[in-house]
Amino acid sequence: MSLTLETSTTAVDRVKVDLLAVPVFADRRLGPGADVVDRALGGVLAEFMAETGFEGKRGETLPVPTRGRLGAKAVVLVGVGEQDRIDAEAMRRAGAAVARRATKVARVATTLLDAAPESLDPEVAAQALGEGVRLGAYQFLGYKSDANPSKLSKVTVLVGRANAKVRDALARGARVAEAVVWARDLVNEPAAAKSPDDIAKLARRMARASGLAVTVLSGEQLVRERLGGVLGVGQGSARPPRFVRLAYEPARPKGTVAFVGKGVVFDSGGLSIKTATGMETMKTDMSGAAAVLAAMSALRDLGVRVRVLGYVPLVENMPSGTAIRPGDVLRIRNGKTVEVLNTDAEGRLILADALSMATEAKPAAIVDLATLTGACMVALGDKVAGLMGNHEGWVAQVRDAAGRAGESVWPLPLPDEYRKLLDSEIADVRNIATSSYGGALTAGIFLKEFVADVPWAHLDIAGPARASGDDGYVTKGGTGFGVRTLIELARTFEKP
Ligand code: BES
Ligand code: MN
Ligand code: ZN
Repeated sequence: MSLTLETSTTAVDRVKVDLLAVPVFADRRLGPGADVVDRALGGVLAEFMAETGFEGKRGETLPVPTRGRLGAKAVVLVGVGEQDRIDAEAMRRAGAAVARRATKVARVATTLLDAAPESLDPEVAAQALGEGVRLGAYQFLGYKSDANPSKLSKVTVLVGRANAKVRDALARGARVAEAVVWARDLVNEPAAAKSPDDIAKLARRMARASGLAVTVLSGEQLVRERLGGVLGVGQGSARPPRFVRLAYEPARPKGTVAFVGKGVVFDSGGLSIKTATGMETMKTDMSGAAAVLAAMSALRDLGVRVRVLGYVPLVENMPSGTAIRPGDVLRIRNGKTVEVLNTDAEGRLILADALSMATEAKPAAIVDLATLTGACMVALGDKVAGLMGNHEGWVAQVRDAAGRAGESVWPLPLPDEYRKLLDSEIADVRNIATSSYGGALTAGIFLKEFVADVPWAHLDIAGPARASGDDGYVTKGGTGFGVRTLIELARTFEKP
């Protein structure tokens, strides 16, 4: 689907579109544009809202017949709640409500941006609105025989006054959302269609189109590079592992940050096999990788001024005659040995290699994203990512970027006193703790072994990487969680 977003100063009653979306505040107070519509329709809106029970609550929508009295063929009222409580997140949700209401028409105009209160930066509001419209319009239909794709092709944001910065912010929102939907597509793709090699090839193509340097390691190169975790997890699959390295190198960069993403294209658990239901969603176990690739694809377009390195290990975790066994020992790139007591704790093994390699490049900071533990979902539910790290300032920077991007993260500790739960009888560390409590933390403590003293933050996205249903601008299936946080981090990066 291709969707254009633009701003225009055309008058509300004159704009020629299929659908005009206007805001209504709490208690049916008409917002900008809705007042114009009401006048054109002879003041019927109050009665119409009362009759239908529409109150102007956030997320409510109400189609209104226009009988040819406006340039627009139809109008939809969009509830936005209390005006002074409208923030960037409310703008994203309102944008998504419009996109969902407009699947049967091509051209839409909206006055939603002018509903923002004084306290909300117009550029922040415009970016959020752009994100919401594009994300709410997302559909994954490639495998549906009776696909009924949205016809929405152009959204015109009506503004009282022309403003180049607002126009650019809207375009930025659309570009960020394009990266998010790229990640969603990759996550939603069945595992059969995305082998490690398939994703490596896609990464190569994406890198060429996005001005990134790229190298793909395979076969003997993985051995020469001592990527023991990747090789160990990958050895059970008929589809061999790959390791993708990316670099965004702007002129006169303002520092270097490294992004690392878990890329398990399918997680069966390996010989420590999962249950049938436990496997149902495991094509999404490469959501961290998808987020890193997608975020990096947008850096040049967004004019990011910091150098960004990407490390994406890609494997399939399968049980077979060649699979890694419980009790086997792997040597990770940084030289540390790991006793693999549960082959289903595979993400940390490939991340250990990737974090070691990222650390060698001496970036100012590292952030990794991984669908790492069910325990994190037990702790925080399926909408909030766990945030851990070894450096308070850097963790705070990641938390703040996520906050601005509208992605929910919450800090979890990495207590030193739990490190001993990972002591191995025969190796440097074991890959699962001896206690079954605190699984998100012990996974984080395991990763910490591989970043030396580089400021590092870890996002366990096992919950929010996937949605079980549509909710606002989040659509069911892969959510592209983390893309917006990574982009916001790169745009605003400060050496920790
Ligand atoms: N990919 C899973 C984690 C996961 C589970 C993500 C459910 C999303 C939904 C990960 O590789 C895994 O299997 N983790 C194990 C770790 C355990 C063996 C220590 C888990 O969480 O059960
Ligand atoms: Mn697993
Ligand atoms: Zn996994």
